[in-house]
Amino acid sequence: MAPRLNVSGVVKRFGGTLALDGFGFSLEPGEVRGLIGENGSGKSTAMKVISGEIAPDEGSVTVDGVALPNLDPTARLTAGVGVVMQDPHLCLELTVAENLYLGRLQRRFRAINWKQVTADAQRVLDEAGIPIDARKKVVDLSQDERHMVEVARVLAFGCKVVGFDETTASLTEDHVAKLFSVMRTLKAQGASQVFISHRLPEVLEICDTVTVLRDGQLVGTIPTDGADEADLIEMMVGRSMDGWYVRTPLPPGEVVLETKGMVPDQFPAPVDLQVRAGEVVGIGGLVGSGRSSILEAIYGLERRSGDVVVAGVPVKAASPREAIRAGMGLVPEDRRIRGLAMEQTVRENATAVRTGSQPLRALNSKDVDAEILEVLFDKIRLKAASSEIAVSTLSGGNQQKIVIGRWLHHTPKLLLLDEPTRGIDIAAKKEIHQLIDELAKDGMALLVVSSELPELIGLCDRVIMMREGRVAGEFIGAFTEQDLMTAAAGSGDAA
Ligand SMILES: Nc1ncnc2c1ncn2[C@@H]1O[C@H](COP(=O)(O)OP(=O)(O)OP(=O)(O)O)[C@@H](O)[C@H]1O
Ligand SMILES: [Mg+2]
Repeated sequence: MAPRLNVSGVVKRFGGTLALDGFGFSLEPGEVRGLIGENGSGKSTAMKVISGEIAPDEGSVTVDGVALPNLDPTARLTAGVGVVMQDPHLCLELTVAENLYLGRLQRRFRAINWKQVTADAQRVLDEAGIPIDARKKVVDLSQDERHMVEVARVLAFGCKVVGFDETTASLTEDHVAKLFSVMRTLKAQGASQVFISHRLPEVLEICDTVTVLRDGQLVGTIPTDGADEADLIEMMVGRSMDGWYVRTPLPPGEVVLETKGMVPDQFPAPVDLQVRAGEVVGIGGLVGSGRSSILEAIYGLERRSGDVVVAGVPVKAASPREAIRAGMGLVPEDRRIRGLAMEQTVRENATAVRTGSQPLRALNSKDVDAEILEVLFDKIRLKAASSEIAVSTLSGGNQQKIVIGRWLHHTPKLLLLDEPTRGIDIAAKKEIHQLIDELAKDGMALLVVSSELPELIGLCDRVIMMREGRVAGEFIGAFTEQDLMTAAAGSGDAA
């Protein structure tokens, strides 16, 4: 019998970049296959070849022995191949229900029964345990919810080959658990799944087998049974290394950030924070607990009442310009919206500090530019053909490296980081943690939002857990993932 999914001999070039170099694998019904590799190793390209979004230069994709047409994602969906992409491909102005059935609706000539479509969509969402109203417009949903809508979309189509490209990177722990339960249901129904993630414990938990890519080539495939993180890391980077960077806390210095009676827009209570020079303070919590809003209120992207004081000087509300002048920097959560000008070059993006989509001010000189690019290329190992290409052509993780890397030379007094290592591979993540540590040693104050509990524990001196817009707990010294989850969920059995 032909395998459920068979990918063979795939070659894909982008200009001078060989993204996939003779890549292939096959999946049995019910198999969950992990696909891992460093940033730029070709994972998303492989996924796009499977989904029909891009046509390979050579090679083929078959499902149940039948070759699929290239460059037609809708035909693939109808044939039962659905992929949740790294960057959601939803129509923002349409409702959740409309997005779920997009592609299928276009094929019908009779009048559409919207009531029925909405009811069907709601049933798919409810059955998957995804608490979203199908009548809502996608533009009004959070990033997490948008990813869950993409997940619901492959369910609505009853796909038998399903791919997830770093879906968990944009989800907090409770949504990851939901996604895994959806994946287990799909597995029981016999669907074959491809799961891309930089979080190796997840890969080991949910996958039966793992395929490793390096520079567009297949390194090998192993069963997860009996494998550990060290095995996977060695296959990925070609050498052994420890997974996490552990920092050495310093005696904290002067207070750099103080919020007094600060109430971000729509918060039920004030959030009073202090961050000192040399301190790395973490903020954790579930979706909707207000983590990002705190950073945005401090930085002036969101409205707030109360006081924000930086190095003794009060900062006006709702003015990122003033925030930068006061010595703040922000690495935003959504690199596409607030982080990068996608059609501009690596150099242009790396050397300008932006708010919104406007370049706010370019950094000083050619020398500084050269140094920033050196940090990017050498230290955090940016994989880009040159500094003169558009950032839209970089892999997701490499885009994120620019968003964070450009601040490392700007040395604000206070750096606000929202999910700084999302989508970043394990080797570069360790470098970024080390760089954050060095910034703290140089006297910077850092406030970091992260959904990854090991990151909060390993990187931060102190962690504040949020729940529904309130501070639910503060942790210093020795604490566990369980402690943090309990505070986030408000019960003992959350993890
Ligand atoms: N549209 C494109 N134009 C030019 N180059 C591209 C394009 N898409 C991908 N590439 C290049 O192909 C290579 C593989 O990229 P891909 O996105 O598949 O990596 P990835 O393994 O998914 O990485 P990440 O973990 O960062 O998401 C990279 O060098 C990338 O810059
Ligand atoms: Mg990718």
